[in-house]
Amino acid sequence: MLNVKLQDALNKQINAEFFSAYMYLSMSAHFSAVNLNGMAGWMREQAREELTHATKMYDYVHARGGTVTLTTIEAPQQKWNSPLDVFQHAYGHEQQVTAMINNLVDLAIAEKDHASHNMLQWYISEQVEEEETFSEVLEKIRMVNNDASGLLMINKEMALRQFTPPAK
Ligand SMILES: [Fe+2]
Ligand SMILES: [Fe+2]
Repeated sequence: MLNVKLQDALNKQINAEFFSAYMYLSMSAHFSAVNLNGMAGWMREQAREELTHATKMYDYVHARGGTVTLTTIEAPQQKWNSPLDVFQHAYGHEQQVTAMINNLVDLAIAEKDHASHNMLQWYISEQVEEEETFSEVLEKIRMVNNDASGLLMINKEMALRQFTPPAK
């Protein structure tokens, strides 16, 4: 049985993962509006991935006999000044998510909840991947320094991203 402290903290994280999905979908909408459809598609795939981060934790709470409580999802930002602005925001966001996951691990250790500690290791590795992915895109966008042809090339390359949901 999941203890109440962990349950509350995991429910908060589930909300945060849904918020991430919502925020990346908002970034996708923004890219569609400015005709950067490759970047829009890339962000849409990222939003799909975030939904699986939320539901994986949701399933875990149930598996431990806990209660999932879904709460209001905050409205995401809707406008950004440039692709650089979007990716700086996104990278910063992933760094915050990493800090949240680290705090959850600290809590699992403090509460001697080995099962939660074990489950959270998946998220620890995932955050390494997420930060790497976002910082790579950010570095590429910095490299082209708002040059239109450079951005269009990155946009074209990013159109190729396809998210495959992990096997359960
Ligand atoms: Fe996530
Ligand atoms: Fe990922």
